[in-house]
Amino acid sequence: MTVAEWVDVARASDIPPGHAARVEIDEVPVAIFNVDGAFYALDDTCSHAEASLSEGDLDVDRCAIECPLHGSTFDLRTGEPLTLPAVEPVRVHHVDVDQNGVLRVALNGTGA
Ligand code: FES
Repeated sequence: MTVAEWVDVARASDIPPGHAARVEIDEVPVAIFNVDGAFYALDDTCSHAEASLSEGDLDVDRCAIECPLHGSTFDLRTGEPLTLPAVEPVRVHHVDVDQNGVLRVALNGTGA
């Protein structure tokens, strides 16, 4: 997949386990989730309608996020919907923590 530039978005400690944050990179809303210390970054906008996935319920056991509007769940590792009504995946972005504890994201598939 196409890898854009890494962008520093937060300190990793700003998003504790079980929490989410919403950032914007090149005007793309991105949701970042911390699942037991592992970070995942997806498009923040649900593939079904206009809802912010970072405001949904994080399911740590399934490594999934439940959309706050109609309840579709998405696998944080793949972006694939696990339940209806969403049928399209959301994009998964690259996320990393550097040696200084800074969380950085590289957008996936933006043509950069
Ligand atoms: S907006 Fe997310 S399931 Fe409908």
